[in-house]
Amino acid sequence: MYENVIDATAQFIEQKFAGEGSGHDWAHIRRVWLMARRLTKAYPEADPLVTELAALLHDIADWKFHGGDYEAGPRAARAWLQSQGLPEPLIARVETIIREVSFKGLGVATPVSSIEAAVVQDADRLDAIGAIGIARAFAYGGHTGRPLHDPAIVPVVHDSFASYQKNSAPTLNHFYEKLLHLKDRLNTDAGRAVAKERHAFMEAYVARFLAEWDGAD
Ligand code: ADP
Ligand code: NI
Repeated sequence: MYENVIDATAQFIEQKFAGEGSGHDWAHIRRVWLMARRLTKAYPEADPLVTELAALLHDIADWKFHGGDYEAGPRAARAWLQSQGLPEPLIARVETIIREVSFKGLGVATPVSSIEAAVVQDADRLDAIGAIGIARAFAYGGHTGRPLHDPAIVPVVHDSFASYQKNSAPTLNHFYEKLLHLKDRLNTDAGRAVAKERHAFMEAYVARFLAEWDGAD
């Protein structure tokens, strides 16, 4: 019944993110959408409309690019869904997922309140690891002017969202502060299965990076 809304949302987001170079591009959102569709197959009780809309809208207005405003994303998603004439309960479900999905620091719990949120959060996290995850981390690091690595700057466990947000550490620290932990922060068995190879690849990558950094390879 709402098939068109998914297509219209995909088109809207594709246009909005055309040319975005910070790691939050249409290609990322498209992968999260496809992965959410894949993971959700194990959960027949999940509502595919809610899952797909939340996947498509999850980065619509990230706090990192909106002056730290956490409500910018949920608000923008709500405005779009209202413009499409969707019923309020459905809009509220999508809005809640967008609030829950984001990683907020290793020491900060990010519980999900629905199976649809579990799937979208896993799909988003899976795109932050593996070969694509590595590329995105260095793209983001370049975008924000970070050095690749500095052995003198030790990774920290951020136990508040504020400290995670303020962090300006070199990009390699991000692997220790987030990426290498994501496999243990997934909600679904299907997500954990996908994470396995991506995690192993990333571990091997970091080992090589460090060996080459010191000219020891
Ligand atoms: P997600 O889309 O998984 O919620 P974020 O919005 O936090 O992730 O970040 C988008 C991308 O930028 C991810 O691939 C993430 O790993 C990367 N990123 C976020 N913060 C940093 C950082 N401090 N250093 C390097 N990469 C980062
Ligand atoms: Ni994302």
